[in-house]
Order: sequence, then C-alpha cells, then structure tokens
Amino acid sequence: MTREKPKNLWLSRWGFILAATGSAVGLGNIWKFPYITGEYGGGAFVLMYLACILAIGIPVMMTEIALGRRGRGSPIDAIARVVRENNSNPLWKSVGLMAMLAGFMILCFYVVVAGWAFAYTWKMASGALAAPSVDALAKVFETHNASPWQLGGWSVLVALLTLWIVGKGVQAGVEKAFRWMMPGLALMLIVLVGYAWTSGSFSQGFAFLFTFDASKITGEALLAALGHAFFTLSLASGAILTYGSYIPDGQSIARTTFIVAIADTCVALLAGLAIFPVIFANGMDPSAGPGLIFMSLPLAFQQMPFGTVFGVLFFAMVSVAALTSAISMIEALVAYLNEKHGISRVKAAAGSGALLLVISLLAMLSFNLGAEWKLFGFTLFDGLDYLTSRWMMPLGGICMVILAGYCLRSEIMRDELGLAPAGYALWLFMVRYVSPVLILMVFLHALGWLGFDPIAQWYWIAGAIGALALLGELLAPRVRHELALR
Ligand code: PHE
Repeated sequence: MTREKPKNLWLSRWGFILAATGSAVGLGNIWKFPYITGEYGGGAFVLMYLACILAIGIPVMMTEIALGRRGRGSPIDAIARVVRENNSNPLWKSVGLMAMLAGFMILCFYVVVAGWAFAYTWKMASGALAAPSVDALAKVFETHNASPWQLGGWSVLVALLTLWIVGKGVQAGVEKAFRWMMPGLALMLIVLVGYAWTSGSFSQGFAFLFTFDASKITGEALLAALGHAFFTLSLASGAILTYGSYIPDGQSIARTTFIVAIADTCVALLAGLAIFPVIFANGMDPSAGPGLIFMSLPLAFQQMPFGTVFGVLFFAMVSVAALTSAISMIEALVAYLNEKHGISRVKAAAGSGALLLVISLLAMLSFNLGAEWKLFGFTLFDGLDYLTSRWMMPLGGICMVILAGYCLRSEIMRDELGLAPAGYALWLFMVRYVSPVLILMVFLHALGWLGFDPIAQWYWIAGAIGALALLGELLAPRVRHELALR
C-alpha cells in the first residue's frame, strides 16, 4: 500500500518541536496549573500530575504523533488512513472527530482567558494595576470581568488574531513567533522565581508545591490531574496529531516528545514557584480560583525594581504563548476542511471563526450577564473546560492507545516510531497495559464505581496492570516478541 504523500512539512527538525512546544506551553502552564494546584491543595496534586505526564502523557503523545505522521492529515483523515492500511474498522476515525471537537471547544473558552492576558499587558503598561493589596487587585479583576464589553472585546481580539494567523498557513505564522518568545518567557519566569526567592515566603511556596499530603487525594483531584496532563500537553485535541502529520519521515518521535514534555513541565513548575511564594507572602488564599495569577503577580511586579517593564513583558509573553496554543487548537479543523472539502485555509478559518466568535462570546458572558445560566451546575465557561479536560481528552487518549496497542499490526507503529527494540517494548507496554488501566481507574474512581482508594490501595492497580499484561502476553505475546526480535 502506498503511503499518503505529505502536503505540508515543517521546514526544519526544529519546526515541529517549536510548534508543538508552542502548542503545549500556554495558559495551561501559567494560568491553569497554579490555580488548580491551589484548589486541590498543592503537593499531592503536583505529584499526581507529574505521574500522569510520565505514565500517560508521554506514551499518548508518541502515539498521537506517530498516527499523525503515518496518516498524514487532519485527525479524522490520518486515523482513517491508518486504519484502512490495517484493514480495521473505519469507525475509529470518530476518535479523530472527537479530538477536533475537543480542540474547538477548548478554544471557545481559551480565548477568554487569553483575553485576560492581553488585557493585563495593557493594564500593566497603563498603570491600572498599581493597586496596593491583593484585595484591591481582586477588585480590578472583578471589575474587568463584570463588563461584557471589556471582556468580550479582548476575547474577540484574541479570536480574530488566531484566525488571521491560522488562515495564513501553518509554518510562516507559528514557527517565527515562537522562536524568540519561548526563551523570553522562560527567562521572565526565572526572574520571577528569583524575586520570589528573595521575597520571604519562598520556602512556604516550595513546600506547598512539593510536600505530599495523601489526604488531599480524592477521585476528583485525580481526574483533574489526569485531565490537566492531557490539557497541558495538548493531547487528544487534534493539535499534536495534526502538527505530527507535518513531521518529515525519519525524525525521532521519542526524542521530540521528551523535549516537548520536559519543556512544558519545567514552565509549569517555574510558574508555580514564581506564584505561590507571592501568594503566601501576601496572605492570599491559594484556592482563589481562575483569577489567581492576575491577583497575585501584579503585586510582585509592583514591589520589584523595573517591575512595570517586567510586568508588561511578562504578560505580553504569556499572551504570545496563549496565541501559539490557540492557533494549534483550530489547526486540525482548518486542515480538515481544507484537505477533505477543498475549502481554502482562509475560508475555513473564517467559517469556523464565525462559530468560534458566537460560542466564545457566550462563554465570556459566564462572568457577568450569564453568571446564572447554568446546566448541571456549570456555566458555559466551566462546562467547556470540564467536559474537554476531564472527559473528552482522556477518553480520546484511551481510544488512541487501544488502537495503537491492540489493533494495529505491530509493523505500523514500529516503523513509525523507529525505536530500538527495548524502547519499543517499553512504549508498547505503556500503551497496552499501563496507560489504559490508569485512565480507566481514574474514570471509575471519579464516577464512584471503583470501590477502593487507588492511592492507599495502589496494589490493586499494580495487580490489574500485571494481570492484564500477563493475559495480554499469553494471548498475543507482542511485547515479549518485540524484545526477542534482536
Ligand atoms: N496545552 C495548551 C496550554 O497548556 C492548551 C491546549 C490544549 C492547546 C489543547 C492545544 C490543544 O495552554
């Protein structure tokens, strides 16, 4: 069977790495990670999140990139081609559809958050953030959100910018912007951590992030950590799969994945180390919710030398990081409309953009006029976040590892991943036994159907993985076979 020819390729080896890091590093690291870590009580959450990145995020990311490159296309088309090559059920492509849908749904609330970052760049520069206390800053945040015109204006600006860049095509827009801003962002975070170090409450912030309190582990926290691992690495949302489809043959998928995952994790941990000391030094509640960084960091900027300059630069860089993520959320949909239906990129961006504007404006209203419009207790903004992170992405992830681990002929993934036998066997072990069991257990636990505590009674999980591995290898001895190959 002849393989699909790539239509679009990254210009260099760094093309994918930059774009995927651009997609991964964003508001998830700087806004969401600190605030949910605060909500779920600190170290225990961080530990669960790191475990999810290692045991689930990395194997899923490798699988997604491999599926994208093998199928060379948007998530639906790429998966459809791979399953056709394997003579499997074409219904698998619905996993691609769900991923695209998740990416789009995320974008609908993400532009609102990105709008905060843009607005705060402006507020920082204009002096509107020169407020004397956390309470005063909380007021600024509240007032900003109370006005649909302000909040909506900034969201629309972000949405239009995103659509404009995506309409122009993938390499030109994404690669260039990110090349200079990633090191800049890292540097700013290091400056902020340096400030936090001298400001007095560093050890308290550090302890909050890295000391482990087992009583804080609940089904909900586990699900949040799993969901956040998917969110922060941009998995099962079309982004990584589509970007993966532009990788030239022969580039190492494993290496690339590790670079992206490490960069992403470092940025999140740096953000936590920058923010929590400021929070404790100013007597703020770490579980203050989505406004956490907007209420705490401006205070740090006020107190440090050249704070305004740093503050403007920082929020500007967060804005760019948010844009490079936003772009990747809609790239799959635009690529799909373009390839499958021959619609030009510009028109595809405009069409999906119209829908984006409507839904994101409705999501924005969750903070003011529509604060009481709730379904199952969720506003639209919270609902979009909850549904995508907690359920759709992990569900997409489990489907992809099952497809790759159980259904595809082993040559397909082995070819694509190009790993040494031991590396391949490890990947296979993860996608066949570890990742699916863990995702399933977290789902069952969150639904209250698990019947035991997965942390205190971890041996049940280890046992389930072991039993499945034993059974799997007896019925279809692939892992052993791969190791014995050479
Ligand atoms: N990973 C991005 C972030 O951390 C968010 C994202 C999710 C991007 C899904 C693309 C797809 O901000």
